[in-house]
Amino acid sequence: MSETVRVSLGERAYDILIGEGVLGEAAARIAPLARRKVVAIITDENVARAHLPTLEKGLRAAGFKGPAIMLPPGEETKSFKGLEHLCGALLTAEIDRGDMVLAFGGGVIGDLAGLAAGLIKRGIDFVQVPTTLLAQVDSSVGGKTAINTKEGKNLVGLFHQPRLVLADVGVLGTLPLRELQAGYAEIVKYGLIGDAAFFAWLEKNGARVLDGDTAARIHAIKRSCEMKADIVATDEREGGIRALLNLGHTFGHALEAATGYSSRLLHGEAVAIGCVMAYELSHALGYASQADVARVRAHFDALGLKTRPAEIAGFSATPRELIAHMMHDKKVSDGRLTFVLPKGIGAAFTTRDVSEGSLERVLAS
Ligand SMILES: NC(=O)c1ccc[n+]([C@@H]2O[C@H](COP(=O)([O-])OP(=O)(O)OC[C@H]3O[C@@H](n4cnc5c(N)ncnc54)[C@H](O)[C@@H]3O)[C@@H](O)[C@H]2O)c1
Ligand SMILES: [Zn+2]
Repeated sequence: MSETVRVSLGERAYDILIGEGVLGEAAARIAPLARRKVVAIITDENVARAHLPTLEKGLRAAGFKGPAIMLPPGEETKSFKGLEHLCGALLTAEIDRGDMVLAFGGGVIGDLAGLAAGLIKRGIDFVQVPTTLLAQVDSSVGGKTAINTKEGKNLVGLFHQPRLVLADVGVLGTLPLRELQAGYAEIVKYGLIGDAAFFAWLEKNGARVLDGDTAARIHAIKRSCEMKADIVATDEREGGIRALLNLGHTFGHALEAATGYSSRLLHGEAVAIGCVMAYELSHALGYASQADVARVRAHFDALGLKTRPAEIAGFSATPRELIAHMMHDKKVSDGRLTFVLPKGIGAAFTTRDVSEGSLERVLAS
């Protein structure tokens, strides 16, 4: 059972394949795209331990050669140091213009391997094989690649679209629940910005998605990928509508910064709290009802996600400190913050018209 979503980007168009056991089909799917039967698999140690043998078995059986490059898990790998190490490993393995890079992991591996693929020999093809829920619904689609620097997250990178995305829901079986919940927050985001019926479906079926129901997972990932694919096809480089994907992210990034980007708060966990804050701000400005705010909060609550900063262990940042973090975010231009504001449930818009007073009131509530 598998589903295909097309990302319509002209000559850079590609398919996202979503299903159970897709990993075993990797060789057959990649072969038509490959000029030579050489792929460099980039992965992290956690993913390698659980799933590399399955992926490699299929590729080797089909005659593919190439190295498997294992990197340490964690956000620190997405750095200049990690990039240098990875580029060195690819060059040592004599990866050529006609060869392919296969990013096999979560968003950290996808972002780093995608960037390395974009840079090596002035750009070689790559395939995303996302293994976290967050990567399957978000980071593997759309071609954004990046590393973090001491100045901030994701500030050095490039747009480099994959040739193919292979999302095997089977690999989610080894993903810790907390990581699943964090990825789930991004799924909810799609419903909130563009599809009220999908949000209602999630209210009914979200628990099945987290519990491991294959059909529910495939549906949720497919709908998320369809929405991201549509947005990316309209606005590949985020000149406009793509910014809606940042619902909850201005707040979320400030919360991540205030907790030192530590394991106290995962990105998706920050997005869940950030979405609720965006609803509160929207409500204060007259674009969402109190009932909408309550409904969104109740759904995150029901699935075990935090919805208030006070629920984060040891959280102590003041509203002023959070605003200072927001001002450092890359969504600031001319000293003014851009917010994605929901309009009820299932629609959203961006605005730079939010006064510091209303922001402070939301952050203090
Ligand atoms: N490019 C984009 O558009 C985009 C969008 C959203 C997020 N991101 C980036 O994605 C990154 C976060 O990605 P993430 O949440 O996937 O984190 P991650 O890549 O760090 O993975 C989370 C943890 O899960 C482990 N893991 C991965 N797959 C597993 C599996 N199947 N079984 C067991 N363990 C597994 C990893 O080793 C890691 O410890 C951030 O760096 C963020 O900036 C990028
Ligand atoms: Zn996000």
